[in-house]
Amino acid sequence: AARAYHAKVHDHFNNPRNIGSLDKNKVNVGTGMVGAPACGDVMKLMIEVDDDGKIIDAKFKTFGCGSAIASSSLATEMMIGKHTTEAQKIKNTDIATELSLPPVKLHCSVLAEDAIKAAVRDIANKKKAAAEASA
Ligand code: FES
Repeated sequence: AARAYHAKVHDHFNNPRNIGSLDKNKVNVGTGMVGAPACGDVMKLMIEVDDDGKIIDAKFKTFGCGSAIASSSLATEMMIGKHTTEAQKIKNTDIATELSLPPVKLHCSVLAEDAIKAAVRDIANKKKAAAEASA
């Protein structure tokens, strides 16, 4: 089992999942764009939710180190299928532990947590704006 676990961890470094973007013009698509002051790396995470707020798709583009890319890959897998309120509870430590990130790379997983929160916030803002526009 330990072997399989490590294989899975390395897989996110070697074969990142869900790279790309979603249609930002859709009201049910939210974007989280965050930067790491420590190194200048940037992560863009997009999520698509259904009418109940469940995340049905997630894509990312990360201009940064391998750990940031692996963190965003894992974050998208953890988010898909979850409600946004659940996804918001994903902590950088969950990601760092799963990927066995060393302390110097912890901020790379913080980037992923920040991107999740920013994307969820963007969905909420868009919904609010749409509700106000139709009121
Ligand atoms: Fe800065 Fe990884 S995001 S080194």
